[in-house]
Amino acid sequence: MAFSWFDEVGSMPPIEVFELNRKFLEDKDTNKVNLGIGAYRSEELKPWVLPVVKQVERSIVEDASINFEYLPILGLESFSSAATRMLLGADSAALNENRAFGVQTLSGTGALRLAADFLASCVPSVTKIAYISTPTWENHRLLFLKAGFNEVREYHYWDAEKRALDLKNMLNDLNDAPERSVVILHACSHNPTGVDPTRDEWKEIVKIIKARKLFPVLDSAYQGFASGDLDADAWAVRHFAEQGLEFVCAQSFAKNFGIYSSRVGNLVVVTSKAETVPKIKSQLTILVRGNYSNPPAQGARIVSAVLNDEKLTQLWKEHIRTMSGRMKNMRQLLRGKLEALGTPGTWNHLTDQIGMFAYTGLTEAQCQQLIDKHHIYLLKSGRINVCGIAPGNADYVAKAIHEVVTTVK
Ligand SMILES: Cc1ncc(COP(=O)(O)O)c(C=O)c1O
Repeated sequence: MAFSWFDEVGSMPPIEVFELNRKFLEDKDTNKVNLGIGAYRSEELKPWVLPVVKQVERSIVEDASINFEYLPILGLESFSSAATRMLLGADSAALNENRAFGVQTLSGTGALRLAADFLASCVPSVTKIAYISTPTWENHRLLFLKAGFNEVREYHYWDAEKRALDLKNMLNDLNDAPERSVVILHACSHNPTGVDPTRDEWKEIVKIIKARKLFPVLDSAYQGFASGDLDADAWAVRHFAEQGLEFVCAQSFAKNFGIYSSRVGNLVVVTSKAETVPKIKSQLTILVRGNYSNPPAQGARIVSAVLNDEKLTQLWKEHIRTMSGRMKNMRQLLRGKLEALGTPGTWNHLTDQIGMFAYTGLTEAQCQQLIDKHHIYLLKSGRINVCGIAPGNADYVAKAIHEVVTTVK
């Protein structure tokens, strides 16, 4: 065989959630159910293009002033300033004192990666140790390692027995973290558990982060999905700002605008001194320039048009209530059906948890049987996307869960 430069390239395992979706699409069974992918589905189990997004897209097509020239390296200013205001609140002291700003990124993932690159290469005061919750969105570890962090450690989050937040051990772990470590926290709608700290619990977390001199990286991928209310879902982020902490927050518009593939995100930076802002921006500019040069425009134009227009914002908020309301209803529906079947165990956690994901407590073997025998696709951690459930398939899903719970350990 002739030599190839690539002979020694090894192969890596596939990414679970994308592999699962591929298998679902290939599955010919007519009863198949997709509870794996993290995207909203309508009651007809179809992707939903939000009407406000369609409306704005049409007006963009007709707008003769819009062209395809490059955006600035840090993106569309009208988008990032509106997105930052949506996160921190219009009356934010950090914003009013010019101590906070946002830069457009390649969705939430791109914002996290830019944050990790910035911390690893431009902020000598932080250690290259990052803390993530157990469990967390599986990409957090990869992103921070790829950005050059030496170590990613875990802090307790989920109490499997109580199916609730393990606050005591979480606080202990944060307390034991070396000073100046980075700690990644989900702003709301924790993925995969659907369990967020209460406001009092957040206050305790913030106190320890402050006392232990940890640097917070907040991840806001689901603003609006936890409660249906954008301000309520931003409470934790705003609390960090009000407590005088410096932090960064990755914002994604993939889910709450339903524009997953448009890659619209914003990295919000909150500092204690306005004079550091130009320096930070100059560093972010170099990082973006050396990576993808500048972000795509279309999705950011859509979000900007909505957030900068009161009427469109109201329409969008209605869409958010529709989506979060459906999630709540499907949690109730599944819980009711499992309880009616007398499925062993308790199922109140399905409705106690919030947002798009429910952490069912099913074992890996039970999940595998759901996939193999019932064509119901879910992550092996037992996480389900409640939007994959609808009145049309809820009986089927509940009976299948009942079957695996009663036959598989
Ligand atoms: C917790 C969390 N953070 C960030 C993201 C980033 O998503 P995206 O890059 O599509 O905005 C996701 C998406 O699933 C997520 O669940």
